[in-house]
Amino acid sequence: MRVAAALLLLAAPLLVAAGPPPGASACSGCHGAAVAGGIPPIAGRPAADLAAILHAFRDGSRKATLMDRLMKGFSDAEINAIAAYWASPS
Ligand code: HEC
Repeated sequence: MRVAAALLLLAAPLLVAAGPPPGASACSGCHGAAVAGGIPPIAGRPAADLAAILHAFRDGSRKATLMDRLMKGFSDAEINAIAAYWASPS
């Protein structure tokens, strides 16, 4: 019984990690495949490319109308998790 509980605790982070990380679900509202208006799609692009762009938005080195402000709310780890998620969304 104790062993089962310990295994459940160990598995919990894996279960949580299976869904989109915090913030990642909000992106599809503007970047989804069906969205028009010239906003580039992000799904399936290499994680390293996405992460580099998102960090550049956050530090202001990449010009933006809103992505710069949006990215200010995320830590490095969160940005990397979002980039990894969109590289192969599930
Ligand atoms: C409210 C609409 C909106 C939301 C929500 C949004 N974006 Fe954006 N995104 C834009 C716009 C508009 C641009 C163009 C840059 C700008 O003007 O800010 C952009 C640009 C980008 C780019 C650069 C694409 C390229 O090839 O130039 C990436 C990558 C990106 N967004 C990722 C994301 C991620 C990841 C999220 C979720 C955390 C997200 N965006 C949420 C509107 C949005």
